[in-house]
Amino acid sequence: MWQQKWVIGNWKMNGSNATNRLLLQALLKPVDAAATHVYCGVAVPNVYLAAVSEFAAGTALAVGAEDVSRFAANGAFTGEVNAQMLADVGAWFVLIGHSERRQYFQESNDELLAKLQNSVATGVLPILCVGETLVEREAGQEQQVVSAQLSLLAQLGLKEVVVAYEPVWAIGTGKVPAVAQIKAMHKLIYQQILSLCGEDVKIRVLYGGSVNASNAAEILAVSHVDGALVGGASLQADSFTAIIQAAY
Ligand code: G3P
Repeated sequence: MWQQKWVIGNWKMNGSNATNRLLLQALLKPVDAAATHVYCGVAVPNVYLAAVSEFAAGTALAVGAEDVSRFAANGAFTGEVNAQMLADVGAWFVLIGHSERRQYFQESNDELLAKLQNSVATGVLPILCVGETLVEREAGQEQQVVSAQLSLLAQLGLKEVVVAYEPVWAIGTGKVPAVAQIKAMHKLIYQQILSLCGEDVKIRVLYGGSVNASNAAEILAVSHVDGALVGGASLQADSFTAIIQAAY
């Protein structure tokens, strides 16, 4: 999997038992067919994790979560779901620090570090989401912002790192950075991870932000782009399948 391209869907707050079943029924065959070349996964709402894990059991589809509690141990944390619970229901990975959580829930670096630590301690692979806002991009601060977001990795002693670069201004907008912009940011992220985690670290850097069937091949061909983190297009079997096939 550390040599394969990754295509990870992020369902966000979408789905139902009925529609999830239909989507997965349409996806599992192309996912299995691509398995030798492409590592496929879906991050789903916690309430569907157990059912989706069960449905995907025995297939090449990895199932993950979209967030995790900053609290590691069980206890009086109403509404929270910790990393051990995610592992218990079959989560293989978890998104951490998605821009929508930073925006709507003001997730601090301390919180994100705790979430990263809890996930690593439980064996649920964290996918750290980073990316600049439009204001930061227009001010030329994208490299400084993303470097600061990546700095958390220095405190974890990781030998396997997966990061998703998602320029906030490209999420859900249909706008995609120029190839040169994607190339520059992914190169920077690679360099930062190597300096923070050591030269022998295994790295996957995914691009996210308006990836679709028509732009996926171009984006996935950019150097240091190891895969895609897909929002809206992952909810449609045809478009998600097309993105998987573009990753061959
Ligand atoms: O986590 C992936 C997501 O933020 C990208 O969303 O709809 O622009 O593909 P979308």
